[in-house]
Amino acid sequence: MSWIREGELSLLERLTANILKAGPMPKHVAFIMDGNRRFARKKHVERQEGHTQGFDKLAETLRWCLNLGIHEVTVYAFSIENFKRSKEEVDGLMELAEEKFARLLSEHENLEKHGVCIRVLGDLTLLPEDLQRQIAKAVVATRVHNKCFLNVCFAYTSRYEIANAVKEMAWGTEQGLIKSSDVSEALLSQCLYTSSSPDPDLLIRTSGEVRLSDFLLWQTSHSCIVFQSVLWPEYTFWNLCEAVLQYQLNYRAIQKARELHMDAEAVQQLEADRACVEQLQQGGNGKLMDARSRQAALLNYTSQREERVNRFLSALQHKRDSYFHRLCSPTAVA
Ligand code: FPP
Ligand code: MG
Repeated sequence: MSWIREGELSLLERLTANILKAGPMPKHVAFIMDGNRRFARKKHVERQEGHTQGFDKLAETLRWCLNLGIHEVTVYAFSIENFKRSKEEVDGLMELAEEKFARLLSEHENLEKHGVCIRVLGDLTLLPEDLQRQIAKAVVATRVHNKCFLNVCFAYTSRYEIANAVKEMAWGTEQGLIKSSDVSEALLSQCLYTSSSPDPDLLIRTSGEVRLSDFLLWQTSHSCIVFQSVLWPEYTFWNLCEAVLQYQLNYRAIQKARELHMDAEAVQQLEADRACVEQLQQGGNGKLMDARSRQAALLNYTSQREERVNRFLSALQHKRDSYFHRLCSPTAVA
């Protein structure tokens, strides 16, 4: 099955979608697609068939999301913890991914038509080399598309991602690109694999498990989290509508929490900048400044910090781009 499943909604589904769309809609939805193996057991089919049907369900869900005006979807396709499963299962999942990413490349026209940009988030160096190359080709081929975004978390856990972001900031400091005082919540967010996406508005986990299993821990602190008992391969349009309705019922509280957090972050940054200016002044001639000079020094410091941070983020982007381009070159060795 292809990544984007063609087809329209039924009349009843369209009607429901239009009613839902009269309310606030999530722009970005994340899924923990759980329950593939239980589904396989329930249907007395091979475990691998459960995962294959899980992929098919992803393609169907993407279509529903597009029909509902949800233009960004992030899915947990393979956790770093999943490497601990049996060799047979891990190999099966790697083969499935390789087949689907190869297919994605052959469907480039369709993805271009829908403007789908595919990003793969995680430590891809943990994957087999052939799969790394296939993923890199798919990411590079769709990176200019900008109508909708599918983020596939593969060889991913949130703690690993956060630790990696901290390492990147340490690297930036060692290289003299940023100062340790430039480290902030906002900068850490920009060093995560998810830096190109807004935080998810809604996170859905299927199969009745009620935990986050190390998925998007940083990004979902102000998201609506919905746990549903349905097994992923049995997910329906109606399950998705129910989750969106939950989001709508909690919308005001979510928005309020987000605004409060954004205000607090801005105040934190301002205070940090003020403290740095004060320290610089004490280390300088030590003369007291009048209010106007203090304001000018603060503005000057803020713009220098922003310049440093932008240079560091460009260097980081360059590092990531070179990894993908190296893998796409005809003589690539991972
Ligand atoms: C969780 O169910 C599912 C997974 C670990 C794999 C999810 C992968 C897919 C749906 C295919 C995606 C592939 C691509 C290329 C995007 P489980 O195995 O934990 O099942 P259980 O909870 O019933 O044991
Ligand atoms: Mg599971």
